[in-house]
Amino acid sequence: MPHALITGANRGLGLEHVRTLLGRGWTISAAVRNPGSATDLKAFDPGDGRLRILRYDASDLKAAQALRSEVKGPLDILFANAGVIGPDPHNLGAAASEGFVDAFRINTLAPLALAETFASQVADSQLRVIALQSSRMGSIADNDGGGRYAYRASKAALNAIGKSLSIDLRDKGVIVLILHPGWVRTDMGGPNGLVTPGEAVSAQLDIIARANPAMSGRFFHINGEDLPW
Ligand SMILES: NC(=O)c1ccc[n+]([C@@H]2O[C@H](COP(=O)([O-])OP(=O)(O)OC[C@H]3O[C@@H](n4cnc5c(N)ncnc54)[C@H](OP(=O)(O)O)[C@@H]3O)[C@@H](O)[C@H]2O)c1
Repeated sequence: MPHALITGANRGLGLEHVRTLLGRGWTISAAVRNPGSATDLKAFDPGDGRLRILRYDASDLKAAQALRSEVKGPLDILFANAGVIGPDPHNLGAAASEGFVDAFRINTLAPLALAETFASQVADSQLRVIALQSSRMGSIADNDGGGRYAYRASKAALNAIGKSLSIDLRDKGVIVLILHPGWVRTDMGGPNGLVTPGEAVSAQLDIIARANPAMSGRFFHINGEDLPW
């Protein structure tokens, strides 16, 4: 039975990934900040032991290591999904703030810590995918709107990390996918988003299902096209 570890699994895109993969028979390690209040997630529990809800705070650099004792065996997908938009106000004049550093811990360092911790378990699996939930807003070439300093910079740095991971983990057979989910109607994306979580997740899982070494270290839109760095 395939196994995925998904962070930020209690709402938005992470919750939809859990729902979809449970429906396909997967075992899920669902990492959330507050298990006690993860009621939407618990509602999807099939009650057969395939959903494991684990406490995980991405702002704590030791959190990935702490998960290790609870996430055992081969890991087909490590999905570093948890993320924050960053501090508000976030535009020029107030951008250099402690909140900027917090955004980097959550959006950038946490996925790297997860990859460092779980790369061997991913390598031992059938699918061998590390998926990084990035954003088109992390593209420097695509930035024609300015602002959002912490979010853009933390996702651009995540992309750089994804590229290095793809090279460093190539010999282990691990495929690193850097993914933009589209503009999605979640708490973060807001009500004007162009796609539903269901549409975004379905498209992301299609990309993951056809993952191969030639795709590793590339930055994909949900339409399957490469995004510019
Ligand atoms: N929605 C979009 O249009 C869009 C576009 C591009 C990229 N993305 C990326 O997609 C990912 C998911 O976004 P979303 O739209 O689903 O946003 P969301 O609905 O706001 O959900 C964010 C998730 O991240 C979790 N999270 C935040 N800080 C955390 C921390 N310190 N420790 C553990 N979990 C934490 C949240 O948990 P809590 O409930 O505990 O806060 C929640 O589960 C993010 O990385 C985001 O940057 C989204």
